[in-house]
Amino acid sequence: MTPRVRQQQGRRVRRARLAATLTAALALTTGSLSMASAADGSGTRTLAKLDNPYANARVYVNPDWSAKAAAQPGGQAIANVGTGVWLDRISAIAGSDEVMGLREHLDTALEQANGANIVFQAVIYDLPGRDCSALASNGELGPEEIGRYKSEYIDPIAAILQEYASHTNLRVVATIEPDSLPNLVTNTGGTAGATPECDTMKANGNYVEGVGYALAKLGAVQNVYNYIDAAHHGWLGWDTNLAPSAQVLYQAANAAGATRDDVAGFIVNTANYSALKETNFSLTDNVNGQQVRSSKWIDWNQYADESSYAGGFRAAAVAAGFNSDVGTLIDTSRNGWGGSARPTGPGPTTSVDNYVNGGRFDRRIHAGNWCNQAGAGLGERPKAAPEAGVDAYVWMKPPGESDGSSKEIPNDEGKGFDRMCDPTYGGNARNGNNPSGAKADAPLSGEFFPTQFQELLKNAYPPVN
Ligand code: BGC
Repeated sequence: MTPRVRQQQGRRVRRARLAATLTAALALTTGSLSMASAADGSGTRTLAKLDNPYANARVYVNPDWSAKAAAQPGGQAIANVGTGVWLDRISAIAGSDEVMGLREHLDTALEQANGANIVFQAVIYDLPGRDCSALASNGELGPEEIGRYKSEYIDPIAAILQEYASHTNLRVVATIEPDSLPNLVTNTGGTAGATPECDTMKANGNYVEGVGYALAKLGAVQNVYNYIDAAHHGWLGWDTNLAPSAQVLYQAANAAGATRDDVAGFIVNTANYSALKETNFSLTDNVNGQQVRSSKWIDWNQYADESSYAGGFRAAAVAAGFNSDVGTLIDTSRNGWGGSARPTGPGPTTSVDNYVNGGRFDRRIHAGNWCNQAGAGLGERPKAAPEAGVDAYVWMKPPGESDGSSKEIPNDEGKGFDRMCDPTYGGNARNGNNPSGAKADAPLSGEFFPTQFQELLKNAYPPVN
């Protein structure tokens, strides 16, 4: 047997084992694994898609990630949780000896489903000039390579998904291009956070064109549900960013052949750390005559957490022209902030800053910090229809996968070294010139980072037992 054949056989055995485990678990705990049915319906959208693809469905467990999680001490506790499959380069579509390709994933999803409904979560992530405001996830396509994005990336994905469109129990959630369109609003045109790379992507129109093309091609497949990335409250929560961003998303939803009917909704907090609900204070509280909004942490934001932001973004999107039945997803994979440092009640009323800082669950140094945050924990488990307007809590970022290397590491993926991943960095305009809060010794973005995985388990909220 060649090493390649052996590796593939090993993978096949692991996959089959995982499918068997999941089927057994499903039989035992149908109640907790299957999703609530409330929002299931035939839908009113022109293509008669479901209103909420997560209703009455389980979520696909990626065997590649699951095996890594299960191999870590304590990792078995979460190895059966569904996570996103990041198609982060053209070669991810075909796969390799190390990672499963898209067809292999879809076949495995049908095995895991065993006839029941299943959601397969794909992250579409390969825009030209990717990650224009940072370096850690720069991609393989240059700013002008929109032609390759269409023909070598989106077209093959759409063609493969079309092959599986007749499986009516398979629902494909495509989350579209994290960290792209909002950059065109906040990091261009002479703003404090502007970068020449984002100015280029705004001027050449390739983020808007690429997102539009992805929406149109993928949206044309009967069982695909597109959710456009809408950043998080600590990025777009201010009035000056919110409506303008919703408008840029709407522009993209009408570009390159797309229409608003290609959009099922939006995903917030993708791969980020913003807390789901800050319940120890409210933005309307006053402390010694000072509004909570004036505190250093909130900095006049209209939102303090992702649950409220998801609703706020949804409303802004509908106002910008999106269909009124759009839903949201919230990535809760790493926003739990549990562990011994989690506040048990409101902070002291000695000052507005003490009040907010003493009570907030999110313990980042600044809400603009995004790379391998020290102290973070796993958040809410994936759940369908957990609140009004929210289609699901999801674990789109696979817990334990790095956001970026803390030192320069040569690679052939186009990934750069972003100092926001370096714990010794003092920050830039996009995080209010604060320390990065990143963990040390991190590998390249997307690679497994066992130290972070352990901390996420330890600081999980709700706790992992
Ligand atoms: C990386 C991707 C990776 C994804 C999920 C991103 O930051 O750039 O390569 O697949 O995270 O871990």
